[in-house]
Amino acid sequence: MARLRTQVAIIGAGPAGLTLARLLERQGVDSVVLEDRSREYVEQRIRAGVLEQGSVELLAEAGVAARLQREGLVHSGIELQFDNHRFRVALSDLTGGRSIVIYGQTEIVKDLIAARVASGAPILFEVEDVVLKDIGPGPPSVSFRHAGEEHELRCEIVAGCDGSHGPCRASVPASTLRSYSREYPYAWLGILAAVAPSNEELIYSHHRSGFALASMRSPALSRLYLQCRPEEDIANWPDSRIWEQLQLRLGLPGWQLKEGPVLEKGITPMRSLVYEPMQYGHLYLAGDACHIVPPTGAKGLNLALHDVRLLAEALTEFFANGATSLLEDYSERCLRRVWRAEHFSWWMTSMLHRPDDGNEFEVKLQLAQLRYISTSRAAATTLAENYVGLAKV
Ligand code: FAD
Ligand code: DHB
Repeated sequence: MARLRTQVAIIGAGPAGLTLARLLERQGVDSVVLEDRSREYVEQRIRAGVLEQGSVELLAEAGVAARLQREGLVHSGIELQFDNHRFRVALSDLTGGRSIVIYGQTEIVKDLIAARVASGAPILFEVEDVVLKDIGPGPPSVSFRHAGEEHELRCEIVAGCDGSHGPCRASVPASTLRSYSREYPYAWLGILAAVAPSNEELIYSHHRSGFALASMRSPALSRLYLQCRPEEDIANWPDSRIWEQLQLRLGLPGWQLKEGPVLEKGITPMRSLVYEPMQYGHLYLAGDACHIVPPTGAKGLNLALHDVRLLAEALTEFFANGATSLLEDYSERCLRRVWRAEHFSWWMTSMLHRPDDGNEFEVKLQLAQLRYISTSRAAATTLAENYVGLAKV
C-alpha cells in the first residue's frame, strides 16, 4: 500500500474539480486530483457551451483563459422563437453591458488539464474504487487503486467534485442530507454537426412539435438540441429524422437550417435536484455532486464554477490562518445562487417545452409568457439578467 499526503483531496476532474485544483495551486494550497476516467475520455465528453461573464472572469483569474479569450465567441443577445417568428433578447443592452461566451466545456477541461500537467501538481486518471474514510470526525483519508496498486491518501479536506453519480455524496449519512427534486417528462437529443452555425446567436424555439435549440461551438461547428421523450432510443433517430425535426422546429418562412455531417449524438435526461447542506464534516461538495439543473438555462457548469470559487476562497483562508468562518458559511452562500438558478432553469424549461399530455391551457400560458418577454422590457430584463448571471443573489 502506497501512502500519500496532501491538504485537499479532490475527487473528480470535471470543471469543478479541475478549477478548484487550479485556484488552490495559485494560493499555495496542495491538492491531489483523482479521476476514474481516462484523460482522453474527460477531454472528449461533450456537454455545456455557454459561459456567464463571471465564469470567464474566474477562469481568467485562474490563468487558464488565454485560448478561451482567443477562440470563445462573445454573444450579446439570444433569440427566442414562437408562433412563427423570432425576437431578440438583447442581453447586453438589458444588463449594463454584460455578455456570455460560447466555448465548449471540452475545451475548458482540456485547458485546465494542460495547466495542471504543466505545473507538475498531482492528477491521477483511471483510479478505481475510491472510498472516503473518516470524513466526519476526521482526520479523513481516501483509499483507491491506481495502476494496479493500492493507495491511501491522507488529507485535511475532501472536495467532492465527482458529479451526480460519484461516491462523495453517497458517503454522507443519509440522515444529514435533505434532497429536493423534480423530474421532467422530456429529455434533449443533442447533436454536434460539422457545419457553420446557421445564425449568429443562439435560437431557443417553442414549437408545437417540441422545443429545439440551435447553438454552436465554433465558426465551423453547430450544436443542436431537440426535445424528445426520456425513454426514447437514439437508434430510432437516424440523422435524416433529426434534421427533419430540427428544420420543422427551427425553420421560418425564407429561413432554413444549414445541414452537415453529424459527428456525435446523444440523449440527456432532464432533472432538477438539490442536496442540502453541501458539506459534512471534512467533506465539501461542489457542482453536479450536489445540484442538477435541467439544461434549458445553461446554468450547470456556471454553478459548478461558482461553488469552487467560494470553496477555494474558504480553503485558502483556512490553510493560511486556520480561520473556519468561510468554510462554515460555504453551503449557505452557494445555495443562494443554486436556488436562483434552479428557479430560472425550471422556469425556462416550463416555458419552452411541449407539455407531454398536450395540455392546451399550459401551451396558452407559455405563449402568453413568451409574448410578455417580447413586449415588456421588464420581463426581458428578468430573463437577460438571469441568463448572463446575476452579480448578487
Ligand atoms: P462533472 O462534469 O460531471 O465532473 C465530475 C467528474 O467526476 C467526472 O470527470 C467523473 O468522471 C468523475 N468521477 C465520477 N465518479 C468518480 C469516482 N468514483 N472517482 C473519481 N472520479 C469520479 N451547463 C452550463 O452551465 N451551460 C450549458 O450550456 C450546459 N449544457 C449542457 C448540455 C448537456 C447536454 C449536458 C449533459 C449538461 C450541460 N450542462 C450545462 C451542465 C454541465 O455540463 C454540468 O453541470 C457540469 O459538467 C458540472 O461539472 P462538475 O465538475 O460538477 O461535474
Ligand atoms: C447549450 C446548452 C444549453 O443547455 C443551452 O441552454 C444553450 C446552449 C450548448 O451546449 O451550446
